[in-house]
Amino acid sequence: MSELTVRPATAQALPAVDLTTRLGDATFPNPVFTASGCAAAGQELEQFFDVRLLGGVVTKSIMLAPRSGRPTPRMAETPSGMLNSIGLQGPGIDAFLEHDLAWLAARGARAVVSIAGGSVEDYAKLAMRLRGQPGLAMVEVNISCPNVEDRGQVFACDPVAASGVIQAVRRNTDNRVPVFAKLSPDVTDIATIARACVNAGADGLSVINTLLGMAIDTTTMRPALGGVTGGLSGPAIRPVAVRCVWQVHQALPEVPILGMGGIRTGLDALEFVLAGASAVSVGTTVFGDPTAPIRVLHELAHALAQRGFERIEDAVGFAHRAPELYIPEEPDPVGDDEPLPARRSVGFEEDR
Ligand SMILES: Cc1cc2nc3c(=O)[nH]c(=O)nc-3n(C[C@H](O)[C@H](O)[C@H](O)COP(=O)(O)O)c2cc1C
Repeated sequence: MSELTVRPATAQALPAVDLTTRLGDATFPNPVFTASGCAAAGQELEQFFDVRLLGGVVTKSIMLAPRSGRPTPRMAETPSGMLNSIGLQGPGIDAFLEHDLAWLAARGARAVVSIAGGSVEDYAKLAMRLRGQPGLAMVEVNISCPNVEDRGQVFACDPVAASGVIQAVRRNTDNRVPVFAKLSPDVTDIATIARACVNAGADGLSVINTLLGMAIDTTTMRPALGGVTGGLSGPAIRPVAVRCVWQVHQALPEVPILGMGGIRTGLDALEFVLAGASAVSVGTTVFGDPTAPIRVLHELAHALAQRGFERIEDAVGFAHRAPELYIPEEPDPVGDDEPLPARRSVGFEEDR
């Protein structure tokens, strides 16, 4: 093991909160996952902690054929975040199944395989290749890809195109494996896209992918990224992500959400849960702190316990409840007040 090796979670017990979460027909032991593209297929994280301790490992979006990605430079730092234009660099589905998914299955980790394509047919073929694969816990469909059959229009920005992809994936995926559609925040009404995906058969929604951004290098006076535009991620996007989770949960309260966007701490994760997420992915933070997913899991469990939650399930969407009414300390002197609803028992004192 390298000098960097830290296994913080293996020795520490989690507080007595039931962290089990259901995403469609699948049950996960806890709600903290990696985010697609931020931890490859989990192998590198293994030197820092046991990846089986996570709810699941979400793999980098895989396409049918190997791809080399976009031109360099591919990353640019931004205030409280980063821009990336990696493109969907990857080994293609055959090598992925042989090396990455096989490794996750042998390790006993729950694999959430992210797939990406340029046409509905690509997605259908990818789903077929995943059928019956050991270790596959869930499929996440990255629909933030240009549709080569429709002038490069991004699937996630059009409800009809998005539902075409989801229908094809759902039809070709084992019934017991949930299919989640990963939504883009770069739309006018995210609830419309969410509803279209669910009507097409999505069991849940991953919210959100990166926001399209751009930076210009003032020395070269050229775009900072080789690919010109890139995806903005990290803490800078968290308020946008929380808003999207809130809106999707409000529109579709029964549909499970895997929330993400700038999560660095357990309290950040709690924000997503209170907005309506049943689970969260930790992405960009992992580049600076590879132990972040497991730390976030512990911090989230403590934050839930401090607020009196015995099960994470009870905290999902909790911020949507009606505001509590003011309850007077003293009985009303006139005595003609309507009885007020009792306060919820759940509250918190302070974070220590
Ligand atoms: C370097 C990098 C690569 C990414 N690659 C993918 C990808 O292949 N597929 C995908 O669906 N999302 C990809 N994402 C988006 C993340 O999964 C996540 O949705 C987004 O970054 C917001 O979360 P974060 O702020 O915690 O990173 C990538 C993000 C980054 C930073």
